[in-house]
Amino acid sequence: MNQPAIHSLTVALGPRSYPVWIGAGLLADHARWRAALRGRHALVISNTTVAPLYLPRIEAGLHGLRWSPFLLDDGEAHKTFANVGRALAALAELGATRDACVIALGGGVVGDLAGFSAACWMRGIDFIQMPTTLLAMVDSAVGGKTGVNLPAGKNLAGAFHQPRAVVADLDTLTTLPEREYRAGLAEVVKGAAIGDAAFFAWLEQHADALAARDPAAVMEAIARKLQYKAGVVARDETEQGERALLNLGHTFGHAIETTGNYTAVLHGEGVAIGMRLAAQLSERLGLSQPADGARLQRLLEQLGLPSAIPPGMDAQQLLGLMRLDKKNSAGQLRLILWRGIGRAEIVAGVAEADVLAVLRATV
Ligand code: NAD
Ligand code: GLY
Repeated sequence: MNQPAIHSLTVALGPRSYPVWIGAGLLADHARWRAALRGRHALVISNTTVAPLYLPRIEAGLHGLRWSPFLLDDGEAHKTFANVGRALAALAELGATRDACVIALGGGVVGDLAGFSAACWMRGIDFIQMPTTLLAMVDSAVGGKTGVNLPAGKNLAGAFHQPRAVVADLDTLTTLPEREYRAGLAEVVKGAAIGDAAFFAWLEQHADALAARDPAAVMEAIARKLQYKAGVVARDETEQGERALLNLGHTFGHAIETTGNYTAVLHGEGVAIGMRLAAQLSERLGLSQPADGARLQRLLEQLGLPSAIPPGMDAQQLLGLMRLDKKNSAGQLRLILWRGIGRAEIVAGVAEADVLAVLRATV
């Protein structure tokens, strides 16, 4: 495939609509993103792994502003309220006014925390997402879900707060570890599995190119996933209905991630395993055919993603964690299942015995 150019799309939310740019060299394309900064102050939130690699690329673009970096230690364990408090203190130290901007330079952990900090400062200031992982590019940086983890659970505190722009510089993926890259591919597959059968077929055809990080294939995969997600977000910004579909595999996946203490299983890996389990449960409930589950399993394997629960995890314990999921209501399990590729749906009142049977068959 040929070297890709810059791809642009818009998340259409009326006066809060914003551009998403995908392409090589975007961090250094200062004129493009600087236009999204309205005030005189900026806080760049990043972490100790990403900042040494990529902060220098944006520094010259901040010329003339009063700005400072705020660096988190690396890892999910640092997506905490305490660090939001520290980020807000850094904004205070900067003298940030209502027109200040937070810039999130990093993966989903940085993006979620930076976005939530922006949502809190003076009841909401601008922020720009500069995602540097594939997962953040294709999912977390777009759509305005921000937040942090609490001791009681993952992502339990947060706000819907949309960015002003998303700058996805493909050059940053060159330093992304292989396992993180593949975890991001799971979020690409997820979008296709939920609602875009043609995209799923394209992924099957380009699985080898994607696994080899072919730039044009990567660009097209990101663009197609985001086009799909942007449409869902535009129709249901605050997840009153359709947006819940974007959680295919999440209820299983979060339980697996939590059991692995957020280190044994990456978020994207949890989603991959969770999607497979959701397909198996759909089959068990007579919603879908085995052929669809088999195609999903094959694609995940081709992309080097896990599809089985790691050894040693207990089915009953996983079910207990699934009962805490935010989508449940009135004490009933509410899961995203599917009728086949590209046809996900919300299913309420799923019997715990069926979930347990599927979990037991895979542990
Ligand atoms: P992450 O932010 O922890 O990044 C993964 C690892 O890659 C980290 O060690 C990070 O320092 C490193 N890294 C990042 N960019 C790099 C680069 N270019 N080169 C080298 N190393 C790099 O994890 P993630 O997978 O990006 O995001 C997971 C988080 O996103 C979770 O907290 C999850 O809850 C959240 N999430 C949020 C949404 C949403 O809609 N807001 C959606 C999906 C996931
Ligand atoms: N990652 C799911 C969503 O953005 O709604």
